[in-house]
Amino acid sequence: MKAFIGSDHAGIDGRKAVASVLENRGWEVEHMGPSNADEKADYPDIAHDVAAGVTSGDAEIGILVCGTGQGMAMTANKYAGVRAAVITDSFTAEMARGHNDANIACFGERVLGTEKISELLAVFLDTPFEGGRHGTRVNKIDRVTG
Ligand code: RB5
Repeated sequence: MKAFIGSDHAGIDGRKAVASVLENRGWEVEHMGPSNADEKADYPDIAHDVAAGVTSGDAEIGILVCGTGQGMAMTANKYAGVRAAVITDSFTAEMARGHNDANIACFGERVLGTEKISELLAVFLDTPFEGGRHGTRVNKIDRVTG
């Protein structure tokens, strides 16, 4: 199981926390983005790389961390087949997987901090997609992008 994980300069510590949660669970992780906060990065560049990996099937899931998670999600959701959710709390993490089959989780390090990101990521990873009527709805998401 492979995950592409990316951050801009505002999400580096969050990305490291994400890597350790995933690696502890046996995921292979590929990092995208700067390794120190002085190295400024534009969040869309990172989100494009991660979303392209998910849409092509090179990665099963993507995790994106920036200041708020918002710009990353806006960019990633331009890709067909990508369902990127900004995760802010445990209920949202559960619903994003259970009802929306999200394949990219976006976190805001300036909103949540690293510990909360790790906690919410665990909920995201532990929640299976419920399918059924939610599958019918999820299939309608791609009506525009194909
Ligand atoms: C960077 O300052 C910040 O704008 C970015 O990390 C993110 O929050 C954008 O959505």
